[in-house]
Amino acid sequence: MKAYILGIESSCDDTSAAVICNDVICSNIIAGQEIHRNFGGVVPELASRAHQQNIIPVVDTALKKANITKKQLSAVAFTRGPGLLGSLLVGTSFAKAMGVGLQIPLIEVNHLQAHIMAHFIQNNERSRKVPAFPFLCLTVSGGHTQIVLIEEGYGMKIIGRTIDDAAGETFDKAAKIMGLPYPGGPMIDQLAQCGDPSRFNFARPSIEGLDFSFSGLKTSFLYFLRDRLKEDPAFIEYNKADLCASIQATIIDILIRKLQRASDQTGISEIAIAGGVSANSGLRQALTEARDIRGWNIYIPEFQYTTDNAAMIAIAGYFKYLKGEFASHDLAPYAR
Ligand code: KG4
Ligand code: ZN
Repeated sequence: MKAYILGIESSCDDTSAAVICNDVICSNIIAGQEIHRNFGGVVPELASRAHQQNIIPVVDTALKKANITKKQLSAVAFTRGPGLLGSLLVGTSFAKAMGVGLQIPLIEVNHLQAHIMAHFIQNNERSRKVPAFPFLCLTVSGGHTQIVLIEEGYGMKIIGRTIDDAAGETFDKAAKIMGLPYPGGPMIDQLAQCGDPSRFNFARPSIEGLDFSFSGLKTSFLYFLRDRLKEDPAFIEYNKADLCASIQATIIDILIRKLQRASDQTGISEIAIAGGVSANSGLRQALTEARDIRGWNIYIPEFQYTTDNAAMIAIAGYFKYLKGEFASHDLAPYAR
């Protein structure tokens, strides 16, 4: 039987809607919000307003691109949290209204779990190789950094997490210190391509177990630049590529070392990455090298499913749909 699920994602600054037919993607529309660039970060109030403006055209386009009418939908899945509350309210309210109007079930989805579930999105040819259970997923986004153990039946256990900043946040803050526009991650990635990753050395944390810490690295980067700028006000300008390559290499090194430790501790060598930072070319390369050295089976998401998107909400919704896990209409979104 065919089930068409509409996914809606509005947890941060991307308004997205996607249609999935069982586990095969039909459309995935994302409207970004340029307005935040002027402020060097996401302004929650502006994000909510932009979601409100974008949501109807985005959903409409997703349905048209999937070549179905809203009457063919089997359920509506939406991001319940975590995220910005005002932004989540727009997607949640819209999904509820659609569910009531069409008399179809509602499915709530956890944003972080959805990033992981993106690995199960199939294309038309059904050629995508999916992870085997149990597998480990390094989920690295703007707000979270976790190592998650995914068991048979999609049960998820967080076995490592950041105790302070997230990896994406560290990219964004480093970029801001260098005067680069928000979001800094993609910009650092781009500039790093022509830089020397071993030129500058920054402090690496020594955190026990599988947890991460990035606040020391951020401070070390800030103080290093403050001292160099005193000697040479053009220091950043002339060394930008090397600075980007060096900070990126340090972040990746911290991530990959913990992932190796997690693999050693659990004996699991099915390894996936997910979340916005999994778009990073250096991280993708480092994981490929780890595969070759350690014999891992690795799973790198398609680029369009790394940063926030509704396709991942739709696939997570589909698996809940199969289990009949529907949400009641009185639930509220959660920020954390
Ligand atoms: O998953 P995501 O889209 O939103 C959250 O759930 O947070 O992740 C956004 C984060 C931002 O911090 C952004 O700078 C980072 O992902 N990011 C990258 C790259 N593309 C996005 N970081 C490094 N390299 C990239 N290519
Ligand atoms: Zn995300």
